[in-house]
Amino acid sequence: MKRDHSPVLPGDGATDYARYMRLETLLDLQRRPEQVVHRDELLFQVVHQAAELWLKLATAELTEAAARLDADDPAAAVPLLDRATLGIRLVTDQLEMFRHLAPEDFQAMQPALGNGSGAESPGWRHVQSASRRLGRAFADHLTRQRIDLSALRARNPTEPLHRLAEAMVEWDERVALWRVRHYQVAIRIGGHGVAGTAGSPANVLVRLIDHRFFPELWRLRRNAAAATADVAAS
Ligand code: HEM
Repeated sequence: MKRDHSPVLPGDGATDYARYMRLETLLDLQRRPEQVVHRDELLFQVVHQAAELWLKLATAELTEAAARLDADDPAAAVPLLDRATLGIRLVTDQLEMFRHLAPEDFQAMQPALGNGSGAESPGWRHVQSASRRLGRAFADHLTRQRIDLSALRARNPTEPLHRLAEAMVEWDERVALWRVRHYQVAIRIGGHGVAGTAGSPANVLVRLIDHRFFPELWRLRRNAAAATADVAAS
């Protein structure tokens, strides 16, 4: 039997797919060929706009993970955090498209960008505040359950709380990997100074690579490694 494809949803667009996905609006969000000062503006906008969408999803999943922790359900928080982490990996992979953006072409499109910078990205700001919120929810959960953080690694690795702590470390690491890749893109495209030069944008980016949302979990790993090495040496 032939499937009926006639639209039933309200909204603009010839098909329900176009209506549900809001394609008319979505595909109108990039500057048209007659508006651009350089044809690579499309590449530039698509990567940034797609990143904002993945960051929106990552923020929603992080926020929900924190809410599950508030309800003392760390097992439910783990898959949500895993989704957020995959979102950051996809945002990192998308940076590969900038291999095709030459420094001359990036400079040529500058007049179109005004004073804009990815540093103003609302997606990244929301991800950062949602990460801090998750950190607070984790600490509050430990307090309510009377669990000492230093005892966490001694617990069974299959336990939800242990798995969540590992997922939080991975989240931190994936954000740092995005920063490493983003720094390399900035340097490859040029015009951002040299790392080591005080105040240069390149220097700012390098320093941010060491930032961690959950430093206490990293400290715990370092201490566990040191304690194991001490036992082996004695
Ligand atoms: C051609 C590609 C890109 C170049 C050359 C570039 C360059 C830079 C530079 C030089 C900075 C340092 C601060 C400044 O001077 O504004 C910066 C910061 C930043 N950019 Fe980009 N960027 C690019 C793509 C992106 C993309 C796709 C995103 C994703 C939304 C992004 C997000 C950020 C963020 C969040 C910061 C603040 C620093 C941080 O939190 O690590 N950038 N970028």
